[in-house]
Amino acid sequence: MKSQLIIALFMGLLLTACGGNEDIPGTEGKKPESMLGPKTESEKMISEGRGIGEVKSVTLATPLEQDRVKRGKDIYDMKCSACHALTDQRVVGPGWAGITKTRKPEWIMNMVTNVETMLERDPEAQKLLELCLTRMPNQNVSIGDARDVLEYMRANDGEQ
Ligand code: HEC
Repeated sequence: MKSQLIIALFMGLLLTACGGNEDIPGTEGKKPESMLGPKTESEKMISEGRGIGEVKSVTLATPLEQDRVKRGKDIYDMKCSACHALTDQRVVGPGWAGITKTRKPEWIMNMVTNVETMLERDPEAQKLLELCLTRMPNQNVSIGDARDVLEYMRANDGEQ
């Protein structure tokens, strides 16, 4: 009885799966967009949670590089602390607590160095914009400075 039901469901699925695009002119033999998979490199980056921008891959080392942590703190104090707390409290932008656990390092660095494009094209960045209702300004942070800030975020998240 139960297996009959499963077979019936499966057949139903096959039918709908094959019921494709026959009726839409010009789409014969084409797969729907969602089945093509990522096309460009930036789409691949976005779908892997690395964001979009120059930073394709970041290697993190343990223990933390304390020089970077210190430079990262100085940058934070100067350019970021007006809008970001080190706790999970939202000020203008989200608090940074836990960010290195939930976001890939590439995503974080691209967000910092390529914020306009991120807000235009990265769905996670767009969610934050919906939440905060303010666009993070481009702070002209170099890739090296963004890497220092990332190290500071790791220290803030309790890494040694
Ligand atoms: C004028 C306010 C402002 C300043 C200054 C600012 N940000 Fe932001 N930041 C935001 C807002 C707002 C968001 C959320 C996205 C949006 O709405 O644009 C954000 C988002 C972020 C995120 C993603 C946060 C998350 O939870 O994933 C990172 C990372 C970030 N900012 C880093 C920085 C760094 C690094 C600096 C300093 C160099 C900085 N921000 C300076 C307002 C600011």
